[in-house]
Amino acid sequence: MIKTMEKVHNFEMRQDETSLDGESFPKICIIGAGFSGLCAAAQIQRKLKTINFTVYEMNKDVGGAWYSNTYPGCACDIQSHLYSFSFAQKPDWSKEFASQPEILEYMKTVARKFDIYKYTKFNHQVNQLKWEESERKWKVSVTDLTNDITTEIYYDIVINGSGELRQPQIPEEFKSFEGPLVHSAQWDADLKLEGKTVAVVGSGATAIQLIPSIVGKVGKLLCYQRQPAWVIPSFQSRFTNFTKWSFATFPGLQSTYRKTLFLLNEVMFPVFMYSTTLSKIGNVIATGLGNYHVNNLIKNHPDIRPQLVPSYRFGCKRVGISNKYYRALDKPNVKVISNQIQEIGGNFIRTLDGEDEIDILILATGFRVHDYFAPMEIIGKDGENILEKWKNDGPTGYLGITSNSMPNLFTLLGPGSDVNHNSGIFQIECQVNWMIKVIREMQSRNANYFAVKKNVEIDYMNAMKNAMMKTVYGNFKCGSWFADDAKGIITALYPKSSISYWNNTRKICVNDFDFN
Ligand SMILES: Cc1cc2nc3c(=O)[nH]c(=O)nc-3n(C[C@H](O)[C@H](O)[C@H](O)COP(=O)(O)OP(=O)(O)OC[C@H]3O[C@@H](n4cnc5c(N)ncnc54)[C@H](O)[C@@H]3O)c2cc1C
Ligand SMILES: NC(=O)c1ccc[n+]([C@@H]2O[C@H](COP(=O)([O-])OP(=O)(O)OC[C@H]3O[C@@H](n4cnc5c(N)ncnc54)[C@H](OP(=O)(O)O)[C@@H]3O)[C@@H](O)[C@H]2O)c1
Ligand SMILES: *[C@@H]1O[C@H](CO)[C@@H](O)[C@H](O)[C@H]1NC(C)=O
Ligand SMILES: *[C@@H]1O[C@H](CO)[C@@H](O)[C@H](O)[C@H]1NC(C)=O
Ligand SMILES: *[C@@H]1O[C@H](CO)[C@@H](O)[C@H](O)[C@H]1NC(C)=O
Ligand SMILES: *[C@@H]1O[C@H](CO)[C@@H](O)[C@H](O)[C@H]1NC(C)=O
Repeated sequence: MIKTMEKVHNFEMRQDETSLDGESFPKICIIGAGFSGLCAAAQIQRKLKTINFTVYEMNKDVGGAWYSNTYPGCACDIQSHLYSFSFAQKPDWSKEFASQPEILEYMKTVARKFDIYKYTKFNHQVNQLKWEESERKWKVSVTDLTNDITTEIYYDIVINGSGELRQPQIPEEFKSFEGPLVHSAQWDADLKLEGKTVAVVGSGATAIQLIPSIVGKVGKLLCYQRQPAWVIPSFQSRFTNFTKWSFATFPGLQSTYRKTLFLLNEVMFPVFMYSTTLSKIGNVIATGLGNYHVNNLIKNHPDIRPQLVPSYRFGCKRVGISNKYYRALDKPNVKVISNQIQEIGGNFIRTLDGEDEIDILILATGFRVHDYFAPMEIIGKDGENILEKWKNDGPTGYLGITSNSMPNLFTLLGPGSDVNHNSGIFQIECQVNWMIKVIREMQSRNANYFAVKKNVEIDYMNAMKNAMMKTVYGNFKCGSWFADDAKGIITALYPKSSISYWNNTRKICVNDFDFN
């Protein structure tokens, strides 16, 4: 454990390395101003001496997922001190798990602190990336959404931070509903829920936060779930002024707290493994805790308890963390409906349970993760249409960051690099640090071409496939967004711990790549 602590410590030390002298190369295009794009934009400035980059963001401001998701109750479920940048720590988080407005405000502060607004073109959507082999550049086609004018600009390097949980999934069958219909990621602040009969579809992380936040307002709440989620207790708490003051006054204290949180999440990883002794023990404890939580909080309607206990293995989907969700489902104005939806009409939903009239329909139905980069099109090396290829064969890449068919392109928090048990922002920082090392290597070699060797990528993907078979994700089909169940592959996740990802991204093995 102490050894691990040292490693994490080294990780943070490395983030403060001084800049190397660079050339005016490269000209960089960053897509997106969510956590990924902000991290790239900040670290490029901190760590590369000559900088020439532009961020394209189709929204009106920074934030990404935290700009779009404004539904009631939206918050992070990774501790705020860890769900934030190591190089821009915030001592005065109000709560252990901050709400969306505070996270968005933090992101704006980071953007101001690192002058990112100056480099960002908002209301600009990237439509196509095309690799021009003769120029060794990406031709980027960008539309200014305010006047619909499209321009083509050449960049040496493209950083793709376009976000996997971004495009709302609105299943076809719900479109026949004629009343107000809203997806959680397109929340309408003017929606009047007071006294209405409201239906919420879904039982994922979003529904778990949304339901308790509206249950007190609505007249009647109908919760449609296909499968329940595993939900465990939350250790939400407010920080006292003294704690905030201590973190601000002694930054070392906050760093230690942050590392401790990281390790506490990291030791949970065995729960998401399959068949080791530790994972079996972890699974028994976690399953027990989940069951206890249902029985403990569902007091008035013991008859619904069985509907709330999942039949799939703990951890296969994102685990819900909440003390309020079951309490909300237990309220007298709530009905949990687990029967399959048969028909959706202009003002009703019908299941085997019967028909319910509905005033407002809320979809917490998740995101179209397997569209990979739509609406953007990517034409890689040899004119290959990457989206077509990935939709047919599944995504491929080395460390989830780079692929042989896409030279000079880096993806952040894309396929194969997210984790379920720890902070996504830690993953992004590892990726950006690795990318900075590659760019420095390009600069020092005077290379304007970088790509992972094809056989290295294939070996890596095979190793990841084998590692996935040691996890719960690789062994159970539970219909999570991590998986492309039709193909039987887990597309979103890195199959090992975050420490392992850090270890794999801490150096570049120059022989694995073509630099020229
Ligand atoms: C409600 C919610 C809660 C979450 N909570 C957690 C949590 O607690 N812990 C955790 O680890 N993870 C959490 N996540 C996952 C979260 O997605 C990541 O942690 C992180 O915010 C992703 O950042 P990103 O920058 O990669 O992507 P995003 O935040 O999605 O940002 C992508 C940006 O790119 C822009 N963009 C995309 N395509 C284009 C284009 N073609 N042209 C121009 N701009 C484009 C988008 O407009 C967007 O602003 C949560 C996700 C959601 C939706
Ligand atoms: N910090 C947080 O707490 C937080 C909050 C929100 C989101 N997030 C992140 O975002 C991810 C996505 O969360 P999410 O809850 O928005 O989406 P999700 O986990 O993909 O859940 C979508 C829900 O909608 C249901 N559904 C989808 N299509 C349906 C249909 N046609 N008919 C009926 N039900 C349907 C799914 O049912 P099935 O399960 O049966 O498929 C599922 O319950 C999370 O896993 C997490 O990573 C995090
Ligand atoms: C960035 O590149 C563009 C186009 O090559 C050039 O016009 C601009 O002056 C450069 N900016 C900096 C700061 O080098
Ligand atoms: C671009 O990044 C997003 C996530 O940020 C990912 O879903 C998509 O697949 C990526 N595309 C490529 C070509 O890497
Ligand atoms: C904490 O500090 C804030 C602002 O500095 C102040 O408004 C608040 O009253 C303080 N709370 C306590 C309990 O002292
Ligand atoms: C760390 O990475 C190196 C290669 O960079 C590898 O040889 C080693 O096994 C890894 N260690 C762990 C604990 O993953």
